[in-house]
Amino acid sequence: MGKSHFPIDLGILTAIRQLVTKESTIVELGSGNGTNRLVKEYEVYSIEDDKKWIGYCEGANYIHAPLKNYELNDEIISWYDREIISKYIPQNYDLILVDGPSGKKGRDGLLANLDLFRTDVPFVIDDTLRNHECQIAREMAFLLNRPLYVFWNFSIIPSHSLSQEKIAHIQKAALKVLDEEDEKYLKNYFSIPTELLKKDFDSLNEIILTGKKSKLERVRLEAGRRKLKKIENSFSLKLGRFLTSPFRWIFKLFNRKKKV
Ligand SMILES: C[S@@+](CC[C@H](N)C(=O)[O-])C[C@H]1O[C@@H](n2cnc3c(N)ncnc32)[C@H](O)[C@@H]1O
Repeated sequence: MGKSHFPIDLGILTAIRQLVTKESTIVELGSGNGTNRLVKEYEVYSIEDDKKWIGYCEGANYIHAPLKNYELNDEIISWYDREIISKYIPQNYDLILVDGPSGKKGRDGLLANLDLFRTDVPFVIDDTLRNHECQIAREMAFLLNRPLYVFWNFSIIPSHSLSQEKIAHIQKAALKVLDEEDEKYLKNYFSIPTELLKKDFDSLNEIILTGKKSKLERVRLEAGRRKLKKIENSFSLKLGRFLTSPFRWIFKLFNRKKKV
């Protein structure tokens, strides 16, 4: 069975560790297995729409806020019941983790309900490898007039710019997760770069077969190899070769004579 992508991963956890100190208070939108990881280090208020996940993690403070319909830009969207959030959210907290409602239910409602939250704390937004979540992160950064740091599957809107050192820590953890990621999963979200990496078929094959590269590098290399093969087999290349063959032949002959 493949890995579940519902819980937060090491990248997000590292980001949170870089942004706030141990025992800080986190407001989490969207609860799950990962909440168990958070409560080991932080005080967690978990906002959750689905009754099934309420109480799943012993140490968390749950705020059960079922979804309600809202109108946003002439569209009906569903998001947590804002009355419940405003009643039960603590006054003081240090970070907001955006990881719910589930991707299928949509997270647009956050943009229309930003006033419910403190805006002087960092936001960590999971799943921004999906276009929809990425768009929400961009719009939030715009609305808050703050920088947006984008990693391969999550983004951060910190309250202050991040130091190079913090970025490096987060990136290292995010890349570790990426390296262990399933190729099939990655292909759902990332188009394969089209540039040709190497012209030499044999050395490409060797690199792919020896498996010395990371999964992502191998996906890229395979794509390069496929493109090269397509070019090799293309009619225009064959025609070009055929038409230029007399010249190449004369050129070779001329070179050989010069060497003699
Ligand atoms: C991305 S999940 C939130 C995950 C959570 N922050 C964590 O780290 O485990 C978004 C929503 O999906 C639901 N959910 C959580 N874990 C799930 C799982 N393992 N499988 C299916 N749905 C899940 C919950 O309703 C949750 O609000």
